[in-house]
Amino acid sequence: MSPQSPTVSEARLLSVLDTAVDGIVVIDERSRILIFNKACEELFGLTAAEVAGKGISVLMPPEFAHGHDFWVNQYMATGVKKIIGIGREVRGRHADGTIIPIELSVGECRTPEGRQFIGIIRDLRSRKAVEQRLNQLQAQLVQMARVNAMDEMGAAIAHELNQPLTAVMLYLQALGRKLEAGVEDGSVEAATVEIVAKTRREAERAGAIIQRMRHFVEKREPDRQPVEVAKLVDEALELTMLGHDGAGIEVVRDIAADLPALDVDPVQIQQVLINLIRNGIEAVREREDRWIRIAAHVDDGRLLIEVEDSGPGIPKNTVRDLFKAFATSKKSGLGLGLAISRSIAQNHGGDLLVEPGGAGRGATFVLTLPLEATPVARAE
Ligand SMILES: Nc1ncnc2c1ncn2[C@@H]1O[C@H](COP(=O)(O)OP(=O)(O)OP(=O)(O)O)[C@@H](O)[C@H]1O
Ligand SMILES: [Mg+2]
Repeated sequence: MSPQSPTVSEARLLSVLDTAVDGIVVIDERSRILIFNKACEELFGLTAAEVAGKGISVLMPPEFAHGHDFWVNQYMATGVKKIIGIGREVRGRHADGTIIPIELSVGECRTPEGRQFIGIIRDLRSRKAVEQRLNQLQAQLVQMARVNAMDEMGAAIAHELNQPLTAVMLYLQALGRKLEAGVEDGSVEAATVEIVAKTRREAERAGAIIQRMRHFVEKREPDRQPVEVAKLVDEALELTMLGHDGAGIEVVRDIAADLPALDVDPVQIQQVLINLIRNGIEAVREREDRWIRIAAHVDDGRLLIEVEDSGPGIPKNTVRDLFKAFATSKKSGLGLGLAISRSIAQNHGGDLLVEPGGAGRGATFVLTLPLEATPVARAE
């Protein structure tokens, strides 16, 4: 541990230093290592014998080593302290080349052999890991705040656009009627009427999309009411297939007859179905064989709604994080669809599960909902 053979009292001091959790290194005026305790040996992967008498810069990344020599010389010449008695975060270098963040406090003492500097070194790696995790969480929070802001903006836009759009549709209706009268007396061509009718249909479509956006971004407590499963599924299909008419996706609807009515928030459950169907459409878009199957049946006192597709299925390594917020493989995806959907399902006393498929099979998402309302809900 010490370059020279120590005296008894020195040996005692050294063995005490060896019990310290922090690294302790003592150097002389010319930055040569005199003492190097066990904690240092572990931290830097070097033995005391290996570093004895060597310059302290062997423990530093090269870019710091140069600066260190400079500051020591500067201190010797001017007495200006850059680190002594202050302590700061610096970088150390392990024997294998790994750079280690460390906190270094330096003290100075005068001995008969000249000045010596005592460095106390604390490994900051675990603290760094915690800090990194905190940074990650913070970034996630920022992203969530952004999503929130987007939600609010989306709701505001939907609200603001709804009125002028309704007015446009009404004007177009009125114009259509006037033109039809014109066709009868020969002053207007039938093609003109058709153009106006098409314009109106597109405006209606825009209205439907905005309506969906509004529902999609609305956040509120479940507002339970009796609803028909088939109606929920049909409406969800209608809303999601808007704009996909030409994509050649076959929709198979497999709803059992005589299903009991559900006691759910129709808007929220529809949002779940829309998310699942939309994911299905996105999964099959590039496939040769494009279909989505929606099935609903009762099983063991629960209602099961399955959304299956002919897509590639879900890779094993992504299944675990699938329902986590911001887990997405899509360029423009938010990775929120499944996270929101599962929390809605669970809020209703149900769940959302996945059979990942793969190897020629597409994914199947299964939404389960209790048919009997929970006692808590009944007691209300
Ligand atoms: N039917 C499916 N087939 C294959 N992969 C799927 C399917 N559904 C979801 N995934 C995968 O799960 C990920 C998360 O889906 P989720 O709906 O939560 O987010 P997203 O679709 O990426 O974005 P958005 O928030 O717009 O819905 C998707 O990015 C996709 O990789
Ligand atoms: Mg999605």
